[in-house]
Formats: sequence, structure tokens, C-alpha cells
Amino acid sequence: MANELLDCEHNLRVAIKKATESPCPPQLAQALEYAVFPGGARVRPKLCLAVALATGNDEPMLAMSAAVAIEMLHCASLVHDDLPCFDDATQRRGKPSVHASFGERIAVLTGDTLIVSAFEQLARCGFQISDARRLATVTQLVTRGVGAPQGICAGQAWECEPSVDTATYHQCKTGALFVAATCAGAAAAGEDYQQWLPLGSAIGQAYQVADDIQDCVGVSAQMGKPSGRDALLGRPNAVHELGLEGAITLLNNLLNDGIASIPQCAGRDLLVSLVEKQSERFFPSGYKRCAA
Ligand code: IPE
Ligand code: IPE
Ligand code: MG
Ligand code: MG
Repeated sequence: MANELLDCEHNLRVAIKKATESPCPPQLAQALEYAVFPGGARVRPKLCLAVALATGNDEPMLAMSAAVAIEMLHCASLVHDDLPCFDDATQRRGKPSVHASFGERIAVLTGDTLIVSAFEQLARCGFQISDARRLATVTQLVTRGVGAPQGICAGQAWECEPSVDTATYHQCKTGALFVAATCAGAAAAGEDYQQWLPLGSAIGQAYQVADDIQDCVGVSAQMGKPSGRDALLGRPNAVHELGLEGAITLLNNLLNDGIASIPQCAGRDLLVSLVEKQSERFFPSGYKRCAA
């Protein structure tokens, strides 16, 4: 799958430009740009576009719009997650986090604006596509990934409860947006999105288990964000629950389950190799995936 087909940078720039143009207050405009560029791995939009391509991608504008919305929502979740009232992290993507650079008030508003702008650019896409019902489905899938009862808001809210099952917490705070990515990619191409739910769920949970492992064994300077936060903040996490070896086994099983769940479709082989390639970086040095 050609890399440029999975690249949403241009469309992301257009969406951010729209939010930051005059008369946007200058600090908010700068913070919006800062929160989104340069990006991180852009793994969620790539997954969304890869599923759309694997299933025919006959409404490419909608798939791209979903990918952009999902990345904007992800960036918003990072800005809010780093705030002092959540993880109190002063570094993100190798630079000061948004609240560390612009203050808490601008950081809250940056996250809020990214959320609103994500849905605005999805709505705008409705004027350019032929099947507006697909847009309704895609929008619903994206909202499920970020809201309640099972999206990012729910996941972050579980941190305020006296106890939570780690898998539920991971599924809400991270898995749900990956489910949105795979399902919205399929729905944009007019496919039955239900079949793509297991892939998003497994890869999303694997991604958070990998992040828990990095938080424990990774080096902050290489990660571009603080390490050791989960233990310090008492967050439910896979390493605390299962030990390092147990967490790596869980990661391996989730990735194998995800790959096995990829439905038959024209682009299946390419999608499998893309997921395999991406998942190499989920493992800490000295470990790699063992196929089932
Ligand atoms: C970080 O996500 C938050 C998690 C859910 C683990 P990413 O690791 O995808 O962050 P970026 O976008 O690449 O910086
Ligand atoms: C991130 O979880 C999930 C979000 C909803 C942002 P973490 O708190 O583990 O992610 P990092 O380590 O800050 O990227
Ligand atoms: Mg957090
Ligand atoms: Mg965090």
C-alpha cells in the first residue's frame, strides 16, 4: 500500500488552517497548530485509510475526512490528557506539552476547538459526496470512539472511579478510537463496518498495552514524553497487572487476534503486511512478535 495513499497531512493542514484563520485569537491559533504539527505516528488515520483502500475506497473524500477527524480528536485527547488535572505531563512529542507552552486555559480551549473542528470538517464533506447516508454512519462511528459510554471521555472518566477493570479502561481510552478508525474506513467505502470492529479493538488494546510497556521500560528522551507516569499516578496498566513478560504475551496475542480477524477483501494481503509492519515498533528492544 503506497505510503502517500495513507497520508492525511495535507487535509489536516487545510482543516487546521480553517480554524486558525483571522479572526482566531493568536494564541489559540498558535496552540492549535502546535498541537497537531509536527505529528506523531499518525497511526489511526493510516489505519482508517488502509481499511478504506482495502475495501474499495469508492468515496475517498469521506474516508479522508474520517481520517482527519480521527487524528484531530486524537490530538485533542493528548492535549487534555497532559493537563495537570489528568496526567500532568509537561512533555509531548519531544516538546513542551500544550499547557506547558501556552497555559492551561488555552490548552483546554485547544482541545475543545480540535474536537469541534473535527466534526465541522466531517460535516463539510457532506456537500462533496454522493451518498450522504454514509456520512451519517461515519459520524456516528467517530462519536462513539470519543464520547460516552465507551469512548475516550468514558475511558478518562474511569480514572476517577475507585476501581476499574484494566481491559475496559484500555478499550475505552484507546481501543475505541481504533475501532472508529477501522469501522469508519469500511463504512466510508460502503462496507459492512461490523466485520472491522475486532481488528480495531484488538489493535487498539495492543497499542495501549505497548504504551504501558513503554511507560515502564522506555526512556523518556526517546519517547518524547515522560516515562513512569502509570506507576506514579496509580493508573491501571498491563505491566502492573501481568508483569513485563505477561504484558508482552498479551500484546502478542492481541496483535495475532487482530491480524487473524481481518475480513476477506480485495486488499487483505496488503493490509495484513501493513499491520505487521506497524506492529514491529510496539515491542521493546529484544522482543518481537511471534506469529500464532
Ligand atoms: C499516545 O498515542 C496515546 C495512546 C493512546 C497510547 P500515540 O502513540 O499514537 O501518539 P502520537 O500521535 O504518535 O504522538
Ligand atoms: C492516553 O493514555 C489515552 C488518551 C485518551 C489520551 P496515556 O495517558 O497512557 O497516554 P500517554 O502515555 O499520555 O501518551
Ligand atoms: Mg492518561
Ligand atoms: Mg497520559
